Amino acid sequence: MATLNLSDLVDADWSPEDAAVDDAEPMQTDSEPLTPAPEDVKEIEAAVQSLDLGTKGKVKEVPPVEEPEPEEDNEENKKRHLNVVFIGHVDAGKSTTGGQILFLSGQVDDRTIQKYEKEAKDKSRESWYMAYIMDTNEEERVKGKTVEVGRAHFETENTRFTILDAPGHKSYVPNMISGASQADIGVLVISARKGEFETGYEKGGQTREHVLLAKTLGVSKLVVVINKMDDPTVNWDKSRYDEIESKMAPFLKTSGYNVKKDVHFLPLSGLVGSNIKDRLDKKICSWWDGPCLFEVLDKIEVPLRDPKGPVRMPIIDKYKDMGTIVMGKIESGTIKKGDSLLVMPNKANVKVISIYCDEKEVRQAGPAENVRVKLSGIEEEDVLSGFVLSSISNPVAAVSEFHAQLQILELLDNAIFTAGYNAVLHIHSVVEECEIVELIEEIDTKRRKDDDPKKKKPKRKPLFVKNGAVVVCRVQVNNLICIENFSDFPQLGRFTLRTEGKTVAVGKVVKLPNPGNSIF
Ligand code: GTP
Ligand code: MG
Repeated sequence: MATLNLSDLVDADWSPEDAAVDDAEPMQTDSEPLTPAPEDVKEIEAAVQSLDLGTKGKVKEVPPVEEPEPEEDNEENKKRHLNVVFIGHVDAGKSTTGGQILFLSGQVDDRTIQKYEKEAKDKSRESWYMAYIMDTNEEERVKGKTVEVGRAHFETENTRFTILDAPGHKSYVPNMISGASQADIGVLVISARKGEFETGYEKGGQTREHVLLAKTLGVSKLVVVINKMDDPTVNWDKSRYDEIESKMAPFLKTSGYNVKKDVHFLPLSGLVGSNIKDRLDKKICSWWDGPCLFEVLDKIEVPLRDPKGPVRMPIIDKYKDMGTIVMGKIESGTIKKGDSLLVMPNKANVKVISIYCDEKEVRQAGPAENVRVKLSGIEEEDVLSGFVLSSISNPVAAVSEFHAQLQILELLDNAIFTAGYNAVLHIHSVVEECEIVELIEEIDTKRRKDDDPKKKKPKRKPLFVKNGAVVVCRVQVNNLICIENFSDFPQLGRFTLRTEGKTVAVGKVVKLPNPGNSIF
């Protein structure tokens, strides 16, 4: 059986900048070999199998205890909005850190904290009271483990954040995937407590698995917080921090992250609240001169969505309420009350009657906002999940074929992958039967960066490829679907292919028919 190399699956080639087919390059492994154990591969596959591109995963909204002041419209315009997923091994402190963020940003009052302290004590989980802010279900509080992704909001100077607090336990990896697939950036929480870093990092631990999944799902930047620095076994010890950073950095590199550009490390205590909103007190930790978490998050650059770009909002759901309401996340552009837009692919002209963002009516909403939009000009029955709300002057492509670069994971019964292969395509909120009609080129993932490109063998169309291959192919569907090149709109251009409920490949769209055409 061909060996599946998961570092190929998440190779650096997933970043939109190097979406060109020819850019595929091997990972430079300068640490221990990190090909995951077969049991890890099974787990990741099982997790990816249940991937529904984030549209169906259970998410619990964490209500702020104190109602936020209504925001002025111009305030909304000024701040960008980012979705940040908290990932990492079970008990690393994701919910505690998330809860502490809400507390420090004034959204949870002292009385509530006292109530949680008492409740946690009654459940013999004294130290979990901060996590209770995010873990709102009884089951989560009793077990001290997040099950559903918790969603909450906070702001730094220039950014409004939606926190997605993912579960760390391996049984809930599907929920983690739904959180990560909605996120722009990730906070990877690592416990520095003696023994805990090791358990999370070793094979079978969720630290590595979450990193690999986050990269595959398009989380472009990671803040790695080395947490529990206050723990008596650590006590803000620099050598422990350095040890963890030096082990994580090569691993992140082999997972496809550019450690210098895309990753930021910092020490933290989620429980005590150190180095979150304010910089570390020198009395606590003399050696750290770097920024605190809020500063890092505020400055993080994510070149993803353009508020002035064309409107793209994949519709994930719809209902009737004195008009047609569509729900989804704006991936590009700004939607304003009164705008005339197109619902694609049926080219229906619609008008925006009202926009709701987190239950609040707003006059406009920009990239990364989760919104409900009331439309006139279309009946609710004429909208389907997978349709895209789009600007009229530059509408989304509606096609029935496209070229994709695919990473084959594991084919059922070790089948070979040839033209004629049928699968189900999951791309943003679209689910469609598809057929691979032509294999165009197999990408040599072993090719070294310094190889002379002139010596590259002439391209030959492969007749078949096997597990682990990276291949460019032409994919056809029966109905028109609204998708984009991965390099233009990553969220509308990355997908999974499944057969019999099992994910067999992940891919990205690399070429579309000419504008206005649905086929090549
Ligand atoms: P899952 O949701 O189950 O994946 O766990 P989690 O990562 O959300 O961890 P959680 O926040 O529930 O914390 C787990 C345990 O670690 C609790 O007992 C916390 O009090 C403890 N903990 C979290 N952060 C810190 C910290 O900064 N210092 C110390 N000493 N303990 C912490
Ligand atoms: Mg948790």
